[in-house]
Amino acid sequence: MKALTLFGILVAGAISIGVLYSGDSQPALKDVFKEQFMIGAALNDAVVSGKDVNAAEIVTKHCNTITAENVMKWALIHPEPNQYDFAAADRFVEFGVKHKMFIVGHTLVWHAQIPDAAFTDNAGKLLNREAMLVRLKDHISTVVGRYKGRVKGWDVVNEALTDEGEFRDTKWRQTIGDDFVAKAFEYAHQADPDAELYYNDFSLEKPAKRDAVVRLVKDLKAKGLRIDGVGIQGHWGMDYPTRENFDAFVDAVAALGVKVMVTELDLDILPSVSDYQGADVSMRAELQKKLNPFPDSLPDSMQQVHANRYAELFSMLVSQSKNINRVTFWGVYDKTSWLNNWPVPGRTSYPLLFDRNYQAKPAFDAIVKVVQK
Ligand code: G3I
Repeated sequence: MKALTLFGILVAGAISIGVLYSGDSQPALKDVFKEQFMIGAALNDAVVSGKDVNAAEIVTKHCNTITAENVMKWALIHPEPNQYDFAAADRFVEFGVKHKMFIVGHTLVWHAQIPDAAFTDNAGKLLNREAMLVRLKDHISTVVGRYKGRVKGWDVVNEALTDEGEFRDTKWRQTIGDDFVAKAFEYAHQADPDAELYYNDFSLEKPAKRDAVVRLVKDLKAKGLRIDGVGIQGHWGMDYPTRENFDAFVDAVAALGVKVMVTELDLDILPSVSDYQGADVSMRAELQKKLNPFPDSLPDSMQQVHANRYAELFSMLVSQSKNINRVTFWGVYDKTSWLNNWPVPGRTSYPLLFDRNYQAKPAFDAIVKVVQK
């Protein structure tokens, strides 16, 4: 009898640990927010290739949309002018198709993560407009064409604007001119007429940049080009954006008749590097401590502050949900977030909803409560 009771306790214990670990007691975010917007995550290759099974479980449970964090960027998918490498992007797309997710391709035209050789001829000389347009068209028709019908939306152009609302001075601009944006949208539509096409950028809640993106969308539309949405990245902090600026951005974009998407959401709680600019280098060790104040774990009080801010952000998103069709987190769990290595390498960052052991954080419950209210 005693043995049986002990066996029962062990089994019950094992089941409850299993339930806790697999997250079965949690609601799926894609169900929680099904009336508001799709929920997504940016995935790296470890998640889709089977190396990070626990992260993949989180994604299949909570997300109905995924974005490629890196594998579709020019440097990875088109590393040499005459060489494409589709292996990782193929795995990403297969994962999304298998789990019936809305797949977003990121990104066709960006000034970062692109080899210098993409802009030059064999002698290393910058290409002229015509030659660069040929290269752009080849890239877009090859990549978009390969995933036609499976990748449902593309970040066609990423980060073409400065915070002041000018065109960023990049090699795209130097070779082609400002209409590289329009050309990219034109070629993407030709390659897959059914795919949704987006412009994606950060800090779009800043008034000058908001006005610039509005001008850009109007210009594309005036040229008769397809544009379906504007992605605001959402690398947000404890005191930005303000609700007022966010609402003004969403209203301005929605008034143009295109969708708004939050495409790269994470919430940084670490100290801002700019607060320490110009600090005495002889204080380096001390500075590192200040910039990386929680190398082992985030204290409970800070978890709560982080959770409260997440709740505030989601109440802002939910109240605008008629104009927002997707909220995608930039990563799955804290350990693999890009913020561990930017803007300072080697910090321990806590920007997402799941911790380094794949467990839901207080922020998870906090955002669920926003809609359960
Ligand atoms: O894969 C290599 C690895 O082999 C090498 O050992 C290691 C050494 O540095 O680097 C690894 O590559 C890194 C790659 O991420 C994969 O982890 C690159 O150095 C690193 O630069 C790259 O960072 C990416 C960053 O874009 C590049 O600007 C981040 O993962 C990615 O999250 C980030 O994503 C961007 C969006 O595309 C656009 N919006 C901003 C966002 C955050 O910067």
